[in-house]
Amino acid sequence: KRPAGAPDAKLARPVTKVGVVGAGLMASQLALLFVRRLNVPVVITDLDQSRIDKGLGYIHGEIDKLHAKGRMSQDAVNRAKALVSGSVSKDGFADADFVIEAVFEELGVKKQVFAEVEAVVSPECVLATNTSSLSVTEMGRDLLHPERLVGFHFFNPVAVMPLLEIAATEWTNDTALSTAFVLGKALRKTTVLTQDAAAFVVNRVLLRLLSEVQAAFDEGTDAKTADNALSGMGLPMTPFTLLSMVGLPVAQHVTESLHAAFGDRFAVSQNLQKLIDAKVTSLWVDDEQGGQVLNPAAAQVIT
Ligand code: 3HC
Repeated sequence: KRPAGAPDAKLARPVTKVGVVGAGLMASQLALLFVRRLNVPVVITDLDQSRIDKGLGYIHGEIDKLHAKGRMSQDAVNRAKALVSGSVSKDGFADADFVIEAVFEELGVKKQVFAEVEAVVSPECVLATNTSSLSVTEMGRDLLHPERLVGFHFFNPVAVMPLLEIAATEWTNDTALSTAFVLGKALRKTTVLTQDAAAFVVNRVLLRLLSEVQAAFDEGTDAKTADNALSGMGLPMTPFTLLSMVGLPVAQHVTESLHAAFGDRFAVSQNLQKLIDAKVTSLWVDDEQGGQVLNPAAAQVIT
């Protein structure tokens, strides 16, 4: 076990360029955060140009929203948009100091990504994974330089959720860890060091609640009753709304990892799987009166 604190900040490497692998919603949110807070070039990559264009479109759209709210000057908007670029090739990572992946939650996919990244980056470049629940240690096992890999786990929506979990493996060195902590602070997040254990800390606690709500639903409690059971008790959104925001497949992956690690303490929901298989993204849809009703597409598949 490591000591609870961060290593000496003086060991941190300056981050003057960032690479983001992936252009999906999480990756795009990360790229936006990096460019806003660090004011450095950020390069995103994905499998094809259309995914990259979608990611860049999201980032530009969010920058425009911040401008409309008076949070970014026109100069800052122009600078931020000019600093973010996208390419299918990872060549732009060659002079990056920090590369983070936010691709599909599959160990093999992430290992492949890191093998490709290591072929391009300098040996000093710190590598990070935004995995929700996979083992950072396993991801680092085949790396040429496993000592530079950290877990760097954000929460949705990245722009507003304050916490950042930083996970070290048995190989992570103090330079990488220190860089991660200093970077987290520059991103204005509250950083905590977690063990590299299934789903770190937050998802482990959160998924206990979310999977229990799903279990109640699976076992016959009416969806609305199960989802609203804790209303008035301080949750910012209902469990099924939160699951939709995170993405049902991502949430199911995290629960499966926790089920593998802790057994029946984390039930994998049959109904959630049916929704995912049917490509339904939300249990609820807005009605004309401004309320919410059961999504007809969900009603067709759940039992
Ligand atoms: N992107 C950017 N900004 C967003 C946003 C988004 N998706 N959603 C909300 N915001 C901003 C709004 O623009 C607003 O900013 P402003 O004050 O500058 O105008 C601010 O957040 C508050 O938004 P709203 O007033 O619209 O709504 P709420 O007050 O209800 O807050 C919420 C929205 C912050 C999303 C709140 O409902 C919340 O905290 N929900 C729980 C989120 C949560 O638990 N996240 C963790 C999920 S688990 C996870 O991500 C881990 C992963 O590994 C699975």
